[in-house]
Amino acid sequence: MGSGVKRSYAEGFRLLKEIIRHNNNSGGVTVGIFGSKGSGKTTFLLTLADKIGCYDPFTQDSTEVEFETIIWRGRDADYWTWLDKRRVTLFIHRDDLDTVEFKNDLLEKLDDSILPTIKTYTSIKSLYTSLVKGGINVIYEPRTYKITPNIKKMIQKRGITGDDLFKTDEVDPVIFWFELMYWLVKNKTLDFITIIFDEADELFPTSPAGARWHLNLWAKDVIKDLRKRNITLIIAAHAYTDIDGRIMPKLQYKIYMKGCVTPSTSLVSRQAPLMLHQGLFYIERDAWGLARFDKITEQPRVLVMFPDDDNGGDDDLPDGPPDDTPPDYGDDHDDDDSRDDDDTKPAPPKKKKAGTIKGIPPEIVRVDKSGKLVIDLTNLNLSDDEIKLDTTPPKKTRKSPSQHKGVNRKTNNTTARKTRRDYGGK
Ligand SMILES: Nc1ncnc2c1ncn2[C@@H]1O[C@H](COP(=O)(O)OP(=O)(O)OP(=O)(O)O)[C@@H](O)[C@H]1O
Ligand SMILES: [Mg+2]
Repeated sequence: MGSGVKRSYAEGFRLLKEIIRHNNNSGGVTVGIFGSKGSGKTTFLLTLADKIGCYDPFTQDSTEVEFETIIWRGRDADYWTWLDKRRVTLFIHRDDLDTVEFKNDLLEKLDDSILPTIKTYTSIKSLYTSLVKGGINVIYEPRTYKITPNIKKMIQKRGITGDDLFKTDEVDPVIFWFELMYWLVKNKTLDFITIIFDEADELFPTSPAGARWHLNLWAKDVIKDLRKRNITLIIAAHAYTDIDGRIMPKLQYKIYMKGCVTPSTSLVSRQAPLMLHQGLFYIERDAWGLARFDKITEQPRVLVMFPDDDNGGDDDLPDGPPDDTPPDYGDDHDDDDSRDDDDTKPAPPKKKKAGTIKGIPPEIVRVDKSGKLVIDLTNLNLSDDEIKLDTTPPKKTRKSPSQHKGVNRKTNNTTARKTRRDYGGK
């Protein structure tokens, strides 16, 4: 392997480590992952959800890595069944609990043994207080969502008249996520949280109409503040052009997988990712490098259904008035790590109760000298060394990624012919 390639992997590892290890100095990070269909985006997101760790934000010289609290946006067809069930908790809005159904791809009800713990929430505050610290919290947004008067007022303050924008209080439920992020920025303690949005174009679509255009503008400002509050945001989409151009500059790290092209501002040449092998990716921030991830054991995919949704209608937002606001092309690059002392001073650390943390194997939870619950990952063999293993360059094969190999025609196992049991059915 040439020294240039080795250097690329060294840089790749450095950048990847910044994404998966968080401390008070770096705060949170914002990451965009792009790659064509089947390039492995969801697999990599699942890997990140499992691997991301942080140093205790309340102890200056902490050397122990804890599992970070993960928020995973639940999707109608989802892959949280691929994660360690002991770390996963599902959150469903109380109004939706009676109707929710979990099925496999054959539309059979999933065996209960496959499902993790399910919790309900009624508000963002109640959701936050019942998040499992160090767990993977899979949250389903409410099926009907009414924008709160506070948010309406806040948007109106920006000179936009709410009356025109919000003809009805009911807005696209994905706006719940904007409000959740905003709430976390204002109310969360210093604890590290990572928010993961797969198929993020559902949240930040390019050129949305009416109210959504303004809400994306608001989301852009919220995203800017996340990392100062120890919140990491990781989003994935097929192409960078699928994401609102105002959001893109707010992403500090960009990851390019097989089959995508890079923007003109990228350090990675535009077509370089097109021919990458599955599992290899370019990563860039202040420099660029290469890194890799492995396939993970596939499990049945889960279809999460809320039958009340199935009214055959169109649940799009009513069309807003024509936009007279000039588009913001997002040239305000924001890669500033300064951790402002903003007006949202963190609340003092909550005193931790002794006991186990739900969703975490008890053998890795212990109480340290100061009486604080810590997760000791050494027992799980989840050390930095293991992460290094995941990011070592692949063994040299005869075929180089630059050869004209065409698209990977390997059958996607999730859709290959399977037995009922493979789908988790009874
Ligand atoms: N590093 C890897 N090596 C080999 N196979 C992989 C790797 N990563 C993912 N796969 C497999 O490739 C298939 C597609 O992966 P995945 O669903 O993560 O892609 P995706 O980019 O999310 O696709 P889509 O855009 O359709 O959502 C899966 O069967 C997965 O197990
Ligand atoms: Mg996917």
